[in-house]
Amino acid sequence: MRKYLIIGNWKMNQNRSETAAFLDDFLPLYKKNEDVEVGIAPPFTSIGVCGDKLSESSIFLGAQNCHWEDSGAYTGEISAGMLKECGCSFAIIGHSERRQLFGESDEGVNKRALALLSAGLTPIVCVGETLDEREQGEAFNVVTRQLERGLAGVSPEKLSQVVVAYEPVWAIGTGKTASTAQAQEVHKLIRKVIAKLGGDSISQQTRILYGGSVNDKNAASLLRENDIDGALVGGASLDAQKFASLVGFRV
Ligand code: 13P
Repeated sequence: MRKYLIIGNWKMNQNRSETAAFLDDFLPLYKKNEDVEVGIAPPFTSIGVCGDKLSESSIFLGAQNCHWEDSGAYTGEISAGMLKECGCSFAIIGHSERRQLFGESDEGVNKRALALLSAGLTPIVCVGETLDEREQGEAFNVVTRQLERGLAGVSPEKLSQVVVAYEPVWAIGTGKTASTAQAQEVHKLIRKVIAKLGGDSISQQTRILYGGSVNDKNAASLLRENDIDGALVGGASLDAQKFASLVGFRV
């Protein structure tokens, strides 16, 4: 019922020429599969060239952040409407790097989610605990709090358009993937929290992605789990061969 969704988060990698070269390599290798949707979130400056290259494909284009206001005196910021005009259909918000390095809060995530939804874009809302929080037995509480605050005031109807990404901070860029059981357990909790916020039927439609050292070797076993509906991929999405093989996974 839920289609798989695999998103490449390029972070601050791939300038315009590298983006063009990546897609020239990747697109011929990419085999469309009706059960798997694919998206790429390049840095802002590469959105234009990425959109041009993807125009003939079914791959979604997205951004890695956005501001919640439509326009105004917000130096350095970009609005949801501006992203939409560039052809973006989604934006990643609340990534742990934004939270840890740039001080973003659950309240900021909430404003961004509401702005994206009202512009008709899909927010990919990232949640996840640090290693300390996991060791203190706080993982469930942290993820629940991030979701409840990040999605406050989102109507059940709009909630059906939200994608959640569970990215345990200790698994990002470390090569340490959560075990399939660890990931599934948190994904199941996330689905319960969504059900509390928007009802069972919405929570059954909500896609919950796993992120943290996902690659072409470990993707299939993670995606086999009941509540893991896709992946948010950093490092392995920068290599055309690996990303093509990853999105071509078979469970
Ligand atoms: P890695 O896949 O490089 O661990 O990054 C995960 C991530 O942060 C995706 O948003």
